[in-house]
Amino acid sequence: MALAPKTDLPRHVAIIMDGNGRWARKRFLPREAGHVAGVNAVRDVVRAASDLGLQNLTLFAFSSENWKRPKTEVGALMGLFRAYFRSDLDELEQRGVRVRIIGSRERVATDIGRMIEDAEKRTVANTGLNLTFAFDYGGQEEIANAARELARAAKEGRLDPETITPELFATRLFTSALPEPDLVIRTSGEYRLSNFLLWQSAYAELAFVDTLWPDFGREQFIASLENFARRERRFGAVSDAVA
Ligand code: IPE
Ligand code: IPE
Ligand code: MG
Repeated sequence: MALAPKTDLPRHVAIIMDGNGRWARKRFLPREAGHVAGVNAVRDVVRAASDLGLQNLTLFAFSSENWKRPKTEVGALMGLFRAYFRSDLDELEQRGVRVRIIGSRERVATDIGRMIEDAEKRTVANTGLNLTFAFDYGGQEEIANAARELARAAKEGRLDPETITPELFATRLFTSALPEPDLVIRTSGEYRLSNFLLWQSAYAELAFVDTLWPDFGREQFIASLENFARRERRFGAVSDAVA
């Protein structure tokens, strides 16, 4: 594989998979066909991440705002999510991938809820790639939920508000088991986060690429990782060269 020793790899890469609809429109196909092609890109990138020995990959698959889309499109996306787990969970298991799904479980269909629990349970002991799907996920909702939980604990006398720190707050987020993303990639040439991992991306490197998600694959993924390896992260301090 072309890349770089493991030490240069980010610990956590998160991807906003965008551009399925435009990919389809360019081909005079319905938007759903773009989502079907998008699943193949998911497969490609997950395999690449697993082959490279990446520790954490998080994919934004459905936002809490995506419910605003036409019923037929939402239905197609739900169907593809189901089909993906049906067809790919065996391979993920063989690769030692641990699957997690972050987001609200309240609005998704009961069978999807069960499927999520099953996938998480089946892969819980796996020690390879941590693969997380953000599904019915919204960053502001996640932060509000964490705040509500802490407020409730304080009200009931189980928590002293003075002890609330960023570290404690982060333990109440869906991502409490994961390190913060080092690199957030968004495809399709849009320059926004669309409510994705708002708290967690405080110091993430951002990469906006023009490729539409269905055209993104192993090669583009590795190119993004190589670009990341050339960046200098300062976290508010001065760089070694200056200090
Ligand atoms: C991303 O592609 C997939 C989801 C949001 C589920 P889009 O469907 O947003 O594609 P564009 O942005 O319309 O091209
Ligand atoms: C963000 O893409 C959500 C996912 C990739 C799942 P959208 O296409 O929904 O974002 P906006 O509406 O263009 O900001
Ligand atoms: Mg979009």
